[in-house]
Amino acid sequence: MDPVKAQYEALPYPPRDPADEAHRLVTGSPSRLAEIDHYVFVARRDWSKPFRALIAGGGTGDGLVMLAAQCAEAGVPAEIHYLDLSAASRAIAEARIAARGLAGVHFHTGSLLVAGSLGAFDYIDCCGVLHHLPDPLAGLRALAQALLPGGGMGLMLYGELGRTGVYDMQELLAALAPAETTPISDRIATARALLKALPPTNRFARNPFLGDHQSSDEGLYDLLLHERDRAYRVAGILELLGAARLRLQSFVPALLYDPLRLLPGPLAGRLAGLAPEARAGLGELLVGSLKTHVFYAVAGESPVRPAGLRPEAVPVLIELPARDLARHLARGKPLSGSVSGLKLALPLPPGTADVIARVDGRTSLGAIARALGLDWPAFETRFAPAFGTLFGLNQLLLTSPRAI
Ligand SMILES: C[S@@+](CC[C@H](N)C(=O)[O-])C[C@H]1O[C@@H](n2cnc3c(N)ncnc32)[C@H](O)[C@@H]1O
Repeated sequence: MDPVKAQYEALPYPPRDPADEAHRLVTGSPSRLAEIDHYVFVARRDWSKPFRALIAGGGTGDGLVMLAAQCAEAGVPAEIHYLDLSAASRAIAEARIAARGLAGVHFHTGSLLVAGSLGAFDYIDCCGVLHHLPDPLAGLRALAQALLPGGGMGLMLYGELGRTGVYDMQELLAALAPAETTPISDRIATARALLKALPPTNRFARNPFLGDHQSSDEGLYDLLLHERDRAYRVAGILELLGAARLRLQSFVPALLYDPLRLLPGPLAGRLAGLAPEARAGLGELLVGSLKTHVFYAVAGESPVRPAGLRPEAVPVLIELPARDLARHLARGKPLSGSVSGLKLALPLPPGTADVIARVDGRTSLGAIARALGLDWPAFETRFAPAFGTLFGLNQLLLTSPRAI
């Protein structure tokens, strides 16, 4: 059996209990419906039309359950296909979908290399999977070929810099507890013993951004004992996309990939002439803690460009109550939070609170401008800097006129 399949049959990841569906929905990037609308369809999709999605390497179902639940809530006529090598993972994902009583989901056990045999898709999610394939490019090409014209993908690949120390540990453990001769339980015990014995100088011990090994046996195995994984720098991702004839729409959150947003003016000015892709690679170096790269991509020949402000687009806040944020900003406080271990406090221009207070997932930007007594050019000029920051943190996105 393929060692990666064997691992996920024994240790489905992430560990999930279908009973938890009764009291919480796991959400995240990629593949929130609003993100798909913003990054792939640039807030111009007619969501009354059928939507075919594939969750490639769906694991225990986080992306699948989120997308199916959000489509059902928004009344999107969705047909969602789940595909994974691991039957044990699929059983958990199926139980979670059943626990929620969600319809329109189809389950398949097998390799994403045959994604095309399931038909063509408007959207493909592939989160934390391609870096486990012997040939990630072959996997990405197979998925790219299964996209409908105008469709796109949401992906996550490991980030090399944030995973500093992980491969040191994997190499040490390959010597201490070789996969070929050591039972899984013994490998896990060996990893725990090694963690306790690490000198403080060890690169893994010095990396504060990794915590999966503390959460569960599955998490520890996935991080430190994986049968096959690799990590990427921005340049490697761009190369992979190009080779699969795909084009980057955006990394998420975009702000961490733009040193112009993170450096003080005089330093930022020196980089202003660089293309966004080159800046993204420098942003990664500057931040230094990105252990994953989440990004959206579309077909290379697609005319679609990232979404920008326009009157018809409907702004939505991502898991942030508009009233709370508006109140916070009205007191003159900056937008604050922690992303990838980086604490940010970003001031927003005066007047932003008035816009945010009107963001309800239904009202278009044009209608908000009218309510504020502004014509569109005046509104756009006033709101663009705040939008750059809020969008940059993936906290405010633009969705299609039929609110989702
Ligand atoms: C780390 S888990 C991620 C699961 C899920 N995408 C998530 O984000 O929670 C990786 C999953 O990819 C699956 N996988 C690995 N290689 C695959 C392949 N060639 N085809 C389909 N699934 C694969 C594994 O079985 C496993 O369930």
